[in-house]
Amino acid sequence: MSTKVIIDCDPGLDDALNLFMAFGDGVDIDILGIVAVAGNVGLAKTERNTRLLCEIAGRSDIPVFAGCDAPLNYPLATAEEVHGGEGLEGIEIFQPKMPLQSQNGVEFIIETLRSAEEHSVTLVPTGPLTNIAAAIIQAPDIIPKIKEIVLMGGALREGGNITPSAEFNIYVDPHAAQIVFDSDIPKIVFGLDVTHQVLVSTEVMSRIQAIGNPVSDAAYNLLKSYNVFDSDKYGEDGAPLHDPCTIAYVLKPDLFKLKACNIRVEADSPITRGHTAVDFWHATDLPRTSHWAYEVDRDGFFNLLIELLETYS
Ligand code: BDR
Ligand code: CA
Repeated sequence: MSTKVIIDCDPGLDDALNLFMAFGDGVDIDILGIVAVAGNVGLAKTERNTRLLCEIAGRSDIPVFAGCDAPLNYPLATAEEVHGGEGLEGIEIFQPKMPLQSQNGVEFIIETLRSAEEHSVTLVPTGPLTNIAAAIIQAPDIIPKIKEIVLMGGALREGGNITPSAEFNIYVDPHAAQIVFDSDIPKIVFGLDVTHQVLVSTEVMSRIQAIGNPVSDAAYNLLKSYNVFDSDKYGEDGAPLHDPCTIAYVLKPDLFKLKACNIRVEADSPITRGHTAVDFWHATDLPRTSHWAYEVDRDGFFNLLIELLETYS
């Protein structure tokens, strides 16, 4: 039976690539819906971008919802400098024809999980965890329905990318992250330690460019802008493909090495807000409800990306 997933995202250049991977022809996952959250840009743009990406990939059949427009406690912090003013720098922005669902995204998550079997739905958040936390706060009875949360966020050995201590998604809404990480829901966590191992090199760019279908072309153009910003920042060959680690894991878990550990989040310190305290060496006896990804088969990851982009030809 296909894995049932709800994707929760803030497109965002790397969120876009993640969606293109998830929509690939023949991919054995059942996308129940996609919920947009405020993050890289405001909610009006992330929900529009989600629909726009669905249309580019020919998946306007997937229902798209708008969730929370701001973090639980903090004002929204965005990342236009990385993703562009519209969130999808590099491609032409158009007003999608497919409608936004009228139901609120958090209500959609709650209703869908309530009517699901126990441990049957995988949540895949690639933005701030606001929608997921809001659903848990409003309806804790949904917890047993979640199989696992496969998320992009956090940093251990790599340090932060938005502050010295914090990765962007966790920094934006650390209170939401606390709710998710403190819950006993199984979590598979892709932080900067592993996403910084999948840099989009010029060799990968040439392979994407050579595919030549509308989706791979859009992917190429998005990555071109993304690479410019991040290689300036990190001085590396290309930008880290953060969010696509999540769908890559859902499709091919063997690509990653994981370790069970406890993760706690700092929410209030002005210096370390959004820091993820990953107990990698089991210094505490706290419950190991997360699996922290620390290594990826880079070639296998990029082969999967290319393979999925080729399915649109
Ligand atoms: C995360 O932050 C966002 O800017 C990206 O989309 C990704 O989800 C990386 O820190
Ligand atoms: Ca994201």
